[in-house]
Amino acid sequence: MIVVVNFSSRKDGNCYRISGVVKKHFKNKKVKIFNFYENTYVSCGHCNYECFVKRCKVDDNLNEIFKAIVQSEEAIYVLPNYCDYPNSNYFLFSERRCGFFNGNKDLQNRYLNIPKKFIVISNSTNNNFKETLKNHIPEKTNPDILFLNSKKFNQDPLDGNLMNDSEAENVIHDYLDNKYLIEQSAMAIVFYKSKVLSTVEEVYNRPTLSLPKGHLENGESPLEAAIRECFEETNEVITKDNYIGELAPFEINFINHHNKLVKKTIYPIIFRVDKMGHLASKEERIIKVKYLPIGEFLLQCTYDNVKTMILEATCK
Ligand SMILES: Cc1cc2nc3c(=O)[nH]c(=O)nc-3n(C[C@H](O)[C@H](O)[C@H](O)COP(=O)(O)O)c2cc1C
Repeated sequence: MIVVVNFSSRKDGNCYRISGVVKKHFKNKKVKIFNFYENTYVSCGHCNYECFVKRCKVDDNLNEIFKAIVQSEEAIYVLPNYCDYPNSNYFLFSERRCGFFNGNKDLQNRYLNIPKKFIVISNSTNNNFKETLKNHIPEKTNPDILFLNSKKFNQDPLDGNLMNDSEAENVIHDYLDNKYLIEQSAMAIVFYKSKVLSTVEEVYNRPTLSLPKGHLENGESPLEAAIRECFEETNEVITKDNYIGELAPFEINFINHHNKLVKKTIYPIIFRVDKMGHLASKEERIIKVKYLPIGEFLLQCTYDNVKTMILEATCK
C-alpha cells in the first residue's frame, strides 16, 4: 500500500490535486490518501505530556495516519509552503508522532525507515524544508524533496490549478518513477588572500551570487572542467598548480528550463592564486565577476549549499 498525506486544509487546491495524480500514478496499487482538510486534529499541549510515560490523552483519529504509514511500502507527503516553512498541519503532525510512538523505539524506527517522498508547492527550494522534513526519515539522511514552483509553469499558486498543466503533472510522474536527466558539473572555488572569486549571474531575471561552474564536457575530469569554466566565465587563468583540494561531490535535483527533472552531481574543486588576473565577464548571463571578501560572500549568497561549501573549503 502507498500512503499519501495531503497537509493542506484547502479542498481542491494544489496539494489535493497532486494527491490525485499520485493515486493515478500508482493505479495498480492500493493507495490510501489522508486529507488534512477533512479533519480537525488537536495540536500538542493542553496536557501533562502523558505521551512520554503512558498513553497520549488525545482521542482524534490522527494516529490512523501513522498506523497506515508503518504498514505501507512508501509514503508520499504533499505539503504547501506557508511563509517559507511547511504549513502548521505539518508541525502538528510532527509533534503528535510522540503520542503514536509512545516511547516504543522499534515502532519509531519502523516509521522512520518507511521510504518517503515529499512534494512541496513552493516558489523557492528553501533550506527550512530540508531541515524540518528530516524529522520523518532516518538520521544522517537527506529528504527526497520535489519543489514544485507554480510560476515555472506560468500558474498562480493561489489558484490551485497547477495540475491543469500537463508538464507539471509529468514532473510528478517522473519524480515518483525516479526518472531524472543526469548531469555532472564542476565548481571552481578560487581563493585569493581572504577573498573568493565570485560571479553574479541572471537566474530567472534575478541577479544571483554564485561561483564559476559548468558542465563536464566529453571525457573531461572535474578538475579540467573547473579550470576551463573558470576561464570561460571570469577570464581568470588557473592551472593544476593552483589546485589545493576538493570537497565531497553533492547532488541537487531541480526542474530545468524544459520543465524536465534533473539530478545534477556537482564537484567542488578548490584553488588558491597568489595574484589576481584580469577579470572579465565573458558570458552574457554573467553580470559581474569579482573577488569578494569571504564574509561578504557568505552574507550575500542565497544558496545554502554553496555557503556551506565555502566554509568547508576555507578549512582546507
Ligand atoms: C498563509 C500562506 C503563506 C504562503 N507563503 C508562501 C511562501 O512563502 N512561498 C510560496 O512559494 N508560497 C506560499 N504560499 C502559497 C501556497 O504554498 C500555495 O498557494 C499552495 O498551492 C497551497 O496549497 P493548496 O493549494 O493545496 O492549498 C502561501 C500561502 C498561504 C495561504
